[in-house]
Amino acid sequence: MAIRNQIILQNIIETQICVMTESNRDIVILAIESSCDDTAAAVIKNGLLLSNVVSSQLEHQQYGGVVPEIASRAHDGKILTVVQKALDQAGITKESLSAVAFTTGPGLMGSLLVGVSFGKAFALGLSLPIIQVNHMEAHILAHFIENPSPKFPFLCLTVSGGHTQIVLVNSVDDMTVLGKTIDDAAGEAFDKIGKMLGLAYPAGPVMDRLAQKGEPIFQFAKPNIEGLDYSFSGFKTSVLYFLKNKLKENPKFIEKNLNDLCRSVQENIVEILLQKLTKAAKLHKIKEIAIAGGVAANSGLKTALQAKGEQLGWNVYIPKMAYCTDNAGMIAMAAHFKYLKEDFCAFDVRPDVRMSVKSNII
Ligand code: KG4
Ligand code: ZN
Repeated sequence: MAIRNQIILQNIIETQICVMTESNRDIVILAIESSCDDTAAAVIKNGLLLSNVVSSQLEHQQYGGVVPEIASRAHDGKILTVVQKALDQAGITKESLSAVAFTTGPGLMGSLLVGVSFGKAFALGLSLPIIQVNHMEAHILAHFIENPSPKFPFLCLTVSGGHTQIVLVNSVDDMTVLGKTIDDAAGEAFDKIGKMLGLAYPAGPVMDRLAQKGEPIFQFAKPNIEGLDYSFSGFKTSVLYFLKNKLKENPKFIEKNLNDLCRSVQENIVEILLQKLTKAAKLHKIKEIAIAGGVAANSGLKTALQAKGEQLGWNVYIPKMAYCTDNAGMIAMAAHFKYLKEDFCAFDVRPDVRMSVKSNII
């Protein structure tokens, strides 16, 4: 009996020592993002971002959109350098890492495969646990990289090249998609309309810049979709027909009106986005409002959101530009929260191109 008690006591002491060493140890995570056309890596230590390296692929500009095969090859060529740079800038050796995190979806299969495979191999070589991160959840959690961050529950309008969603965020791991686009994403609308205007891919930032010199004098068809969902394809088609008609009358129409066209398209997209966001905020009686994703970098959207916030008494949260567009800092932040919950994944984890925000769509 005495021996048995001694063994139990020994076990308790060992467990305590284990927990103490674990809790005293810094949490240092290397995070990798490769879901689309940005090869990115970041290092986070105890929730503080130490480095955030992004290498954007310019290879796609001449094609007017991301070419998946070119994207995966470019990731493959850049990932080692980008990861090394992230470690160097953070002043962290790979031996002091606690875990390796990577985006498993949503995104392009070939692109995701590069980050996932690299992350797994890197972690395996160092006997580290791995953490899988949902790219869309990470866009939202980018709000926690810097202060002030939104208070729970908050609404986040996540607007990127592939997604447009209104998400109810109850906590870091309890998110519900309230509405989403049924066709094109807001960023896609910017990029495709920009292509019609002869602008290089990605057209969103260029249109933003030109819009600042123009006036919103043109109106296009607005979608009439029920609930909190979005649609941009009808709007895009209405711009296409408008341009076709105008070009018949004057072949130099685009050239002569480029700034006003950009401003008008931007105002229309922003109006569509804010109309449903306002509806969601009223419906759920929430005044903590955030935006995330590449389109959150749009100056027209930021200004309009701030004005709406003042009018309706919202607390508005807009991430810094570097944390709006694709980056690994947001993956690192999401991974840090997962590490705290010991939410690691198995080494047979695979990319999930259609990975959705964890909780159900209501
Ligand atoms: O989040 P992100 O970097 O990548 C995806 O996950 O898709 O978003 C990229 C999208 C592109 O469609 C790009 O044109 C758009 O964000 N974007 C912008 C601006 N900056 C990036 N759209 C409008 N105005 C901007 N300033
Ligand atoms: Zn993104």
